[in-house]
Amino acid sequence: MAVQRGLESLRPARWRLFCDPLSSRFVSTRWRIILRAGHFPGVRRLVEAIYDRVGGPGPRASAIARTRLIDDLLVREAQSAAQLVILGAGFDSRPYRLSPLQHLAIFEVDQPATQHVKRAAMRVTTSKLPNVHFVPVDFEHDDLTAALEAAHYERHGPTMFLWEGVTNYLTAAAVDTTLHAVRKLAGDHDLLIFTYIDRAVIDGDLDAFPEARRWIEGVTRRGEPWTFGLDPAGVPNFLANRGFTLEQDLSTAAAGDQYFKPLGRRERGSALYHVVAARAALRNVDAISTP
Ligand SMILES: C[S@@+](CC[C@H](N)C(=O)[O-])C[C@H]1O[C@@H](n2cnc3c(N)ncnc32)[C@H](O)[C@@H]1O
Repeated sequence: MAVQRGLESLRPARWRLFCDPLSSRFVSTRWRIILRAGHFPGVRRLVEAIYDRVGGPGPRASAIARTRLIDDLLVREAQSAAQLVILGAGFDSRPYRLSPLQHLAIFEVDQPATQHVKRAAMRVTTSKLPNVHFVPVDFEHDDLTAALEAAHYERHGPTMFLWEGVTNYLTAAAVDTTLHAVRKLAGDHDLLIFTYIDRAVIDGDLDAFPEARRWIEGVTRRGEPWTFGLDPAGVPNFLANRGFTLEQDLSTAAAGDQYFKPLGRRERGSALYHVVAARAALRNVDAISTP
């Protein structure tokens, strides 16, 4: 993600979907050199072309479209929120690059090893933001509620929850446990944004997604195979059973049409990757069954 966001940030302001100047801090030395050379437009175009040829046409465009879509969703909601919980924050730098978020108490939740790398890479920046709390949690094993409360999360904040690029790496049990914890931590009507992969891809039914095969090979080669997905038609029920109401479910293909086309850019997002916005439903959360 950091490489893809770094490449996007090299584009001239009028052609890019966002600028993430911190992204280059999180990449390997080799990629840092490439990104530096990418300030020359011809080099950047060549790097993108090679990147898309090796990884297939889906991943980069999908990542860029999803980043911008989520930026917009968060910024739209920010004024009415007091907290932002970023689940599986990884190298997301929104708390530091989107000024409408800077009044929020921010909870960056991820595995300790990832947080260690991130904090080392951006020591200077985080020390200027005392409202950012790093909360080490493994969704497969740890108690998210206890960890957030220990970090002074305020119940019923109001809060935005973001879970981007993570469900596809988890077990179904960890997805359920995490959603259950989020619903109990959230106030009624709080916003949850998360991404998921179309379940058909996880089941090996790739006919509708020509970009899927190389993408799957890439993530598997990196030791991060996809393990979880949802059937888009079942998402409203999936959420309702867990105490949320679906507000919007957009594939990154649809998001790409929304963002790339007006700029005359030819990239296409992917139909296999979805961004969901949902609300904590008005109901008795104690009645929500434990997964
Ligand atoms: C593809 S990255 C996405 C990072 C960030 N949300 C973004 O979109 O830029 C996936 C993130 O999920 C985290 N993750 C994966 N499995 C996890 C688990 N079991 N518990 C906590 N975090 C996990 C990884 O450490 C990583 O930061």
